[in-house]
Amino acid sequence: MAEIIGGIGTSHVPSIGVALDRGLTETPDWKPFFDGYEAAKEWMREAKPDVAVVIFNDHGNSFFLDRVPTFAVGVAETYKPVDEGWGRRDIPDFEGAVDFSWHFVDKLVERHFDPLVCREIDVDHGLQVPMELMFGRPEKWPVKIVPIWVNTVQYPIPTPQRCWEMGQVLREAIESWPGDERVVILGTGGLSHQLQGTRAGFINREADLAWLDGIANDPETYRNMTREDYVEQFGSEGAELIMWLVMRAAMNPHVNLLHKHYYAPASMTGAGMVLLENAA
Ligand code: DHB
Ligand code: FE
Repeated sequence: MAEIIGGIGTSHVPSIGVALDRGLTETPDWKPFFDGYEAAKEWMREAKPDVAVVIFNDHGNSFFLDRVPTFAVGVAETYKPVDEGWGRRDIPDFEGAVDFSWHFVDKLVERHFDPLVCREIDVDHGLQVPMELMFGRPEKWPVKIVPIWVNTVQYPIPTPQRCWEMGQVLREAIESWPGDERVVILGTGGLSHQLQGTRAGFINREADLAWLDGIANDPETYRNMTREDYVEQFGSEGAELIMWLVMRAAMNPHVNLLHKHYYAPASMTGAGMVLLENAA
């Protein structure tokens, strides 16, 4: 049986990648943000996971609005960082945990999920940025990845309850896998933000702070909320937070909240993270 050694929830804002590319991590604007990730990076160095399951949404880079799967899973050997318009970023390709990915796809279909299965696909900032936040800028990524795409872009997006159920299947897949890999699960997106419409620029600091504790200690509240509740509390793009539920549902009912961080400067996005370990 493989082992879930930790669950992480984190924002995946593209400007974080740009800040890294331009060496801005020590500037007054960015330092408070990046400092908040040091404890998680340190934990990661010590925990030495073999596999990272990353739950994220594509932002019109690998899937455009003409074809949007509700759920997709990668089974590729290699995933390239997609060029989002500024040219190829100077980060390594990502190596896939191919056999485990197929096992997960099998389990999903058995449990009546019917994902799009991707043998060849690029990954955008939704995956790139969380990997950089956790592992820095290595020559080669220290983990293989299992990418899971969730549609949070074009309605109808899946319900929070459905994301939760997918997390339960993920747990089942990890527990039934004969290998002894150490697995971390990264749920990404959020926190509160809205990039469009009359509420563009909306941030809800109070709801974000409640989320960071609640996702650890009271996930039922968030599992039972509607998609409309998410949009109202967190903004139209803040509804990306439903993807953290996939991670949370794969963890034990009780978890220890080891680290948390929140930073909402005068920007478009509430940004933050939690690091969870299973409790007995
Ligand atoms: C932005 C984009 C994202 O995908 C996100 O999750 C948060 C912010 C942005 O373009 O600012
Ligand atoms: Fe996003």
